[in-house]
Amino acid sequence: MSGNNGAGLVRPSVQALKPYVPGEQPQGAGWIKLNTNENWFVSPSVLSAVLAAATHDLRRYPDPVCTDLRVKLSARYGIDSQQIICGNGSDELLTMLIRAIAGEGDRIAFTDPSYSLYETLSHIQNAAPVPVPLGDGWQLPVQELVAVNAPLTFITTPHAPSGTAYRLSDLEAIAAGCAGVVVFDEAYVDFGGDTAIPLLDRYPNVVVLRTMSKAFGLAGMRLGYAFGSRELIGALYRIKDSYNVDLLTQVAGCAALDAWDEYARVNHETAVRRDRVAAELHRRFGWRVWPSATNFILVEVDDADASEIVTRLKTEQILVRYFPRPRLEQSMRISVGSDAEMDLLLAALDKVVG
Ligand SMILES: Cc1ncc(COP(=O)(O)O)c(C=O)c1O
Repeated sequence: MSGNNGAGLVRPSVQALKPYVPGEQPQGAGWIKLNTNENWFVSPSVLSAVLAAATHDLRRYPDPVCTDLRVKLSARYGIDSQQIICGNGSDELLTMLIRAIAGEGDRIAFTDPSYSLYETLSHIQNAAPVPVPLGDGWQLPVQELVAVNAPLTFITTPHAPSGTAYRLSDLEAIAAGCAGVVVFDEAYVDFGGDTAIPLLDRYPNVVVLRTMSKAFGLAGMRLGYAFGSRELIGALYRIKDSYNVDLLTQVAGCAALDAWDEYARVNHETAVRRDRVAAELHRRFGWRVWPSATNFILVEVDDADASEIVTRLKTEQILVRYFPRPRLEQSMRISVGSDAEMDLLLAALDKVVG
């Protein structure tokens, strides 16, 4: 072999790519993880189902089209199972949507800020990302998004990282005004806010994206699903990897749907705790906490240094998220954990902020 350093072997757009940076996933015990909006709870019935499914059958490929899971999703949401596709996390479905819809140079619109993976995936596809700024107070820029009228638009609703809930009438105005596909990424909708599901019957260009990583405590299994017209969902089936959702994940997803009421109770508790912690952060430190319909809060720390607070919390083995991006430099995003975790967070903040 010569001293070839490999330059020129990779597509220029991939060489130039700034990869998506996921929240830190520390290995080892003792961490309080409030940085990636995972659930603090997972139903014991889901764990038993997964254990029971870990048998000799693992040598076989899983069901390529997640039949049992889609039957349960269909019954739960009242949507035809042919209008449902499951993915290896909703991240995989985002990739599939972009690959199916946006060709090279096509515009992909999303609000700024929002889930930054939309932009990364757009670059991977050589498409043209169009970030559309949110209004003051994180309002949805409905008219501006409609004016872009991109072949593909992503709306995070409720919004991340602010937690803001949007009205169905605004979501509908975007679906009606855009000729292209509009994806409502509802990763956090189980905690609050309007769902765009009622739009599916009226707008063939609408896709609703869900995940089991947040409300169902299954981030470690990787399971998302999308609802949409037969045409759009059919296109995703044509391009998907054959066995994109593994056997144990399919079992976990079914068991989680069976535990629906238990999760609804726990997630309601989380929402109550979120509001308690938000009020307490304002009372103790005078910080602004944006109203949230999700399992996290965005906290603006005024003239304190948010990045420094996040670093100091880490020395206490508490992880929260800092985004070094315009409009977010003064803020930290805190996931809502268990009661005990939130009490430890408040005590640590007392210590590091003083
Ligand atoms: C808005 C939003 N969409 C999608 C995802 C991806 O979720 P999943 O774990 O299903 O890939 C996340 C994860 O944080 C998210 O915040």
